[in-house]
Amino acid sequence: MQFIDLKTQQAAIKIELDRRIANVLAHGQYIMGPEIAELEGTLAAYVGVRHCVTVASGTEAMLIALMALGIGPGDEIITTPFTFVATAEVVVLLGAKPVFVDVDPHTANINATLIEAKISPRTKAIMPVSLYGQVADMAEINAIAARHGNIPVIEDAAQSFGAVYKGKKSCGVSTIGCTSFYPSKPLGSYGDGGALFTDDDDISQATREIRVHGQSKRYIHTRVGVGGRMDTLGCAIVLAKWPRFEWEVAQREAIGARYTEMLHTQVLGARALSADEVSKPLSGLRTLTLLPDRTNVYAQYTILVPNRERVRANLQNAGIPTAVHYPVPVTLQPAYQHLCCADCTPVANWLAQHVISLPMGPDLVAQDQKEVTKALLEAL
Ligand SMILES: Cc1ncc(COP(=O)(O)O)c(C=O)c1O
Repeated sequence: MQFIDLKTQQAAIKIELDRRIANVLAHGQYIMGPEIAELEGTLAAYVGVRHCVTVASGTEAMLIALMALGIGPGDEIITTPFTFVATAEVVVLLGAKPVFVDVDPHTANINATLIEAKISPRTKAIMPVSLYGQVADMAEINAIAARHGNIPVIEDAAQSFGAVYKGKKSCGVSTIGCTSFYPSKPLGSYGDGGALFTDDDDISQATREIRVHGQSKRYIHTRVGVGGRMDTLGCAIVLAKWPRFEWEVAQREAIGARYTEMLHTQVLGARALSADEVSKPLSGLRTLTLLPDRTNVYAQYTILVPNRERVRANLQNAGIPTAVHYPVPVTLQPAYQHLCCADCTPVANWLAQHVISLPMGPDLVAQDQKEVTKALLEAL
């Protein structure tokens, strides 16, 4: 079994993929070719916002978003420590300070009830992460931002493209949404890529200039930018995947729901994690919770287990690969630990010791899920 099966998908889209790649090779506009605008138009319409700007990666999307907002030294950005390091990395790169807020044990997303206490006159943005494919509590976060002088909110939606929150698509629920087309992401390319989404015309214009070295006209650099374009070929590949995407999103939702159902009914004692269990030794398999007002595209299907390393080794012996997203919160990383006290985000620290991600993808079949569940039962 593979952790993520991309081969089946590739076989299913082969004709369109070959056609799209051949088109790019024929027109030869490898940089800023027509596929860039085509993909941006397609994705903006899907998300339901005015602007989509493709960029070199999900990391670059967040960096450019912060640059467009003018973030710099002395500024504070509120975010979560339980994420891929890129979320905090871009803040530090600009000389600003990430201010870490602990996560909610039910979803592993930032705990919105703890944000307001961390707002200061230096807070210039709030950057929640829609982890594993479930959108963070954006309504509460947007309300807090509005109460404090309309602080911009940037959604790190690297893992949640395609998810729905209160009837709106991820990437369209805040000032700026940033996603990634890293190959294993819900909408992956065959290489690096990413995009920003916004309804704000000025932010959109700024990000378009920043991604090409701050250029407003050819060789006129009106601001400091980066080399942040996405390749035409990468956009063509995402376009080739696009006709299958809605089906894949539905598959991901169904496969995730099936995992939860199978684990709860077939693994003795397995149930959803409750808040009072965090901080105690974990007594059995626990699942995270999908909240009723949203969907989850399960970029990862992640559960909590006691004795994780032993469980992982047993699963590996049964031929089942797993991953850990993430073993160390940003607040405990060598390059970042000076920015936060070690025990200031206890829930994130506890989750990091127990999370394990199971094989997941739109082409995972029920038989494989049965095998995973059976092996987990034995491994525990
Ligand atoms: C939550 C999160 N944020 C940001 C990123 C960075 O995206 P990219 O790898 O496209 O730079 C990732 C991808 O791994 C991610 O999972």
